[in-house]
Amino acid sequence: MNWNSFTRNTYVNKELDFTLDYSLMGASEPFFSEMEPRLQEALKAMIELEGGAIANPDEDRMVGHYWLRAPHKAPSPDLEKAIQKNLADIEEFAGKVHRGEIAGAGGKFEHLLVIGIGGSALGPQFVAPTLGQPGEDRMEVHFFDNTDPDGIDLTLAHLRGELDKTLAVVISKSGGTPETRNGMLEAIQAYMTEGIEFARQAVAITGEGSKLDQVAESEGWLARFPMWDWVGGRTSELAGVGLFPAALQGLEIRGMLEGAAAMDTLTLTPETRDNPAAILALLWYHATNGKGERDMVILPYKDRLMLFSKYLQQLIMESLGKEKDLDGKVVHQGIAVYGNKGSTDQHAYVQQLREGVNNFFATFIEVKKDREGASIEVEDGITSGDYLHAFLLGTRAALAEMDRPSLTISIDEVNARTVGMLIALYERAVGFYASLVNINAYHQPGVEAGKKAAAGFLKLQGQLMEHLSSNKGTFSTVAEIASALKAEDQAVTLYKLLEHAIANPSKGITKKQADKGFDATYGMA
Ligand code: PA5
Repeated sequence: MNWNSFTRNTYVNKELDFTLDYSLMGASEPFFSEMEPRLQEALKAMIELEGGAIANPDEDRMVGHYWLRAPHKAPSPDLEKAIQKNLADIEEFAGKVHRGEIAGAGGKFEHLLVIGIGGSALGPQFVAPTLGQPGEDRMEVHFFDNTDPDGIDLTLAHLRGELDKTLAVVISKSGGTPETRNGMLEAIQAYMTEGIEFARQAVAITGEGSKLDQVAESEGWLARFPMWDWVGGRTSELAGVGLFPAALQGLEIRGMLEGAAAMDTLTLTPETRDNPAAILALLWYHATNGKGERDMVILPYKDRLMLFSKYLQQLIMESLGKEKDLDGKVVHQGIAVYGNKGSTDQHAYVQQLREGVNNFFATFIEVKKDREGASIEVEDGITSGDYLHAFLLGTRAALAEMDRPSLTISIDEVNARTVGMLIALYERAVGFYASLVNINAYHQPGVEAGKKAAAGFLKLQGQLMEHLSSNKGTFSTVAEIASALKAEDQAVTLYKLLEHAIANPSKGITKKQADKGFDATYGMA
């Protein structure tokens, strides 16, 4: 760590109070020069994307999350108006809720239940605790982000007796995601149990004409907000998906948009070393050899940013983790992302980072302001915040000593503007990196494959239940059932389905144990 190398390899932006120190990444000048033409190509592609080019060829759609924070950049006046109207509508709706003009059966709404998954949940899940202030927030935000009945019950346990003051927002761009549909049905049941009509307390954020949109319209939900096809799920935090919950919580949504817009402008700077997203993308390339050979470890030294790594995990891995490149060549691209927070992680996996397999690069996030107000001294002249800062410096130095690369992003404090900046920085870096490795960052064929496979298993479960129900009193082994269903190649799946049914007695299946583990028989009495 030397001063000259630090000053040559650190980007500082005084206006945004933002610094990116890449002096410990080991990237030399020749690397930057060699990559410069490719980076300029990536920048050109990004400018075309912002101009409305079809940047997601598989889905034949534009990629326009940048317009959300700079509507005048949208490729048509209609789109510009739609973005502005949506923002105004969200603010108006939130205002009415806060003033009690839109209320629940039990009076003013105090809770918000967000029902969504993946890109339709992770943004709000990151932002709500990052910018929220318990006791001061206008509403408390809760999530159903899975089809796990126990997880749903856990969330409902916080809302028991309060559902008449709970506004529900169902978020799904496609409007047909099974986990979200199930969450919605579970919510309807829970509201019904407390004698509340769900539709009177529900809002939908979805694509126009989607299944969800149709349900919300026909049942007369409180409101419907659009989710445009040109905004991808994982880049939708600054669309209605993220802005609606944030506005209801009482967060400064305009501040987030301004921070993002400022970063968007900055990250179109053609001079590579003055463009922090270009620097990031190039260093990811350098660290991973452009093939994901190292994992990205995100280490924010600030509890509020704990979920940033989870948010980035989706943004980066769903965008970059692709089998084929844009020419159809099999490339198996991606960068694995994980992390939590410092210094907590120093008492967990940082041991391996320092001494174990050298297969990662770290990104430290330094937040200079410790807290609102003064701190006590935990030792002479030293505060808890000084300790946190020293631990960051210590881990950074310890990794460098062992030749483990790291980047350090510094911001003054966590607020709406800096959160918007960080989101926009990473969105842009992902776009640049995708161009450098020639992949489509804006589709997710792997997610679709998982959904299709699940649908196949549910169909088989239906056949299994029908078979057992029409053969009541007959007990058969897994192999016998598989043969009766002409599904011999599905015996393992049938075993899993039967065992799941046994653990959930309402399915009505009984198991007779045998001496040998897999010779048990199953049937309906
Ligand atoms: O980023 C994405 O595109 C995905 O993670 C989606 O957000 C996720 O699959 C949920 O999809 P939908 O919003 O259609 O319910």
